[in-house]
Amino acid sequence: MNIYRELAPSPRTIMTPGPVEVDPRVLRAMSLPVLGQFDPEFTAIMNETMEMLRELFQTKNHWAYPVDGTSRSGIEAVLTSIIEPGDRVLIPIYGRFGHLLHEISDRCGAEVVTLEKEWGTVFEPQEIIDAIQNEKPAIVALVHGETSTGRVQPLEAIGKACRELDVLLVVDAVATIGGVPVKTDAWCLDAVIGGTQKCISVPAGMAPVTYNDRIEHKIAARKRVERGLRASGETDFPNARPQIQSNYLDLGQLQDYWSPARLNHHTEMTSMLYGLHEGLRILLAEGLPARFERHRLNERALVAGLEAMGMSLYGDPSCKMTVVTCVTIPDGIDGESVRAMLLNSFGIEIASSFGALKGRIWRIGTMGYSCSMKNVLHLLGAFEGALLRHGAKINAGAAIAAALDVYEGSAKTAAINA
Ligand SMILES: Cc1ncc(COP(=O)(O)O)c(C=O)c1O
Repeated sequence: MNIYRELAPSPRTIMTPGPVEVDPRVLRAMSLPVLGQFDPEFTAIMNETMEMLRELFQTKNHWAYPVDGTSRSGIEAVLTSIIEPGDRVLIPIYGRFGHLLHEISDRCGAEVVTLEKEWGTVFEPQEIIDAIQNEKPAIVALVHGETSTGRVQPLEAIGKACRELDVLLVVDAVATIGGVPVKTDAWCLDAVIGGTQKCISVPAGMAPVTYNDRIEHKIAARKRVERGLRASGETDFPNARPQIQSNYLDLGQLQDYWSPARLNHHTEMTSMLYGLHEGLRILLAEGLPARFERHRLNERALVAGLEAMGMSLYGDPSCKMTVVTCVTIPDGIDGESVRAMLLNSFGIEIASSFGALKGRIWRIGTMGYSCSMKNVLHLLGAFEGALLRHGAKINAGAAIAAALDVYEGSAKTAAINA
C-alpha cells in the first residue's frame, strides 16, 4: 500500500506577477465550516461580496460578482455571453494576454480584427480610436495591465470614445485590480474582469467581474432570441439552440443565481468565497488610495535598488506597470540558473517571461500581500548574491542602500505631512 506524504509546502517569498503570497487571515477564512449555498447566512456573504466588489471596481454597476474558475473564466464568461457569431471584435494586442482575448473571441465565432504593437510598449489611445472609427467593431477587448511585458495601457480616452461610438469595451484588469486604480465608471468601461491571485492576494480560483446595463441588454437580447425560437416550436431547429454556447459561463444564468431570485445554477465555491470575502475586507480596510500608494512606494524602492545595482529595466518606462518590473537578463548570464538559485537557496520566486521574451527578461511582481518593504529588501539582497555568484558585473552593496533611501525619504515626507 502506498503511504502518501502529508502536504508541507515550503515557506516562500513570492515575487512573481502571480500567484502571490496570501494573507494568513484569508487562509484562515478558507478553513471555516461550510454553509449550504441557500442558507441565508451564506447568501448574506454573497451579497456583501458583491458590495465590496463594487467598491473595488469603483462602480455603481448592479452586477459585480465572481465567476468560479481562474481569471480566464471571467474573460471567457463575458466574451462568450456577448459575442454573437459574426460580431466584429477589435483586439489591440501588446503582449501575451491580448492573444488570449483573440483566441477566446475567435472561439466565440467573432470576426476578429487585431492591432499589434511591439512588446514593451502600449498604444497611443488615438491609434485605437482611429481603428474603432475605421473598423466599426461591435466590441473592443483590451488588456489593462500586460503581465507578460509589464506595461499598462491608458484606458480613459478609449472608454469615452467607445461610449460615444456605441461600441462595447471589455477590459482584462486581471493583473491591475487591487494594485493600481481601475475606474470602471469614470473611464466608461462596460465590462471588467479581475483576478484574485495577484493584487487581491487570494488563491487562484475565482474571477471577479463587473458589467453595466449595456452589457446586460446584449445578454438579455440573446436570451429573448432563444426564448422566441423555443416559443415558435423550433426546438429541434439548429437556430433554437441556446445563443450562449456555455452553460457554466453564461452570465445570464450566473446573474440570476447572484440575484435575490437565487435561481439554481452551479454549487457556489463556499471556501473560495470565504477567502475572497476576507481578501476584499482586508483590501478595503487598508483603503484603495493607501493600497495604491503602498504599491507605488515598493515599486520605487525596487527600481532604485535594481538601477543602483546596474541592472537595466526592460520596456518603455512611460507605460511601466507599477506592480510588475521587468529586468533585462545581462549577456552571458543564465536567467533560469539565477531563478533556480533564488528559489532553492533563498526561498524567493521570481518569473521569466513568454515567447520572444523567454530567456531575455526576468519579471518581478510587487503585488498585494507580497508587496512589502521586507520582501523588496530580501529580494534585492538575494538577487545581488545570486548575480555575483553567476559572475555578473554589478555594483555590489549599492542596491539595499538605494532602496532604504526611498523608504526613509518616504517616511520623512509622511512625517512632515502628518
Ligand atoms: C493580464 C492577465 N490576463 C489573464 C490571465 C489569465 O489568468 P488565469 O491564469 O488566472 O486564468 C493572466 C494570468 O496571469 C494575466 O496576467
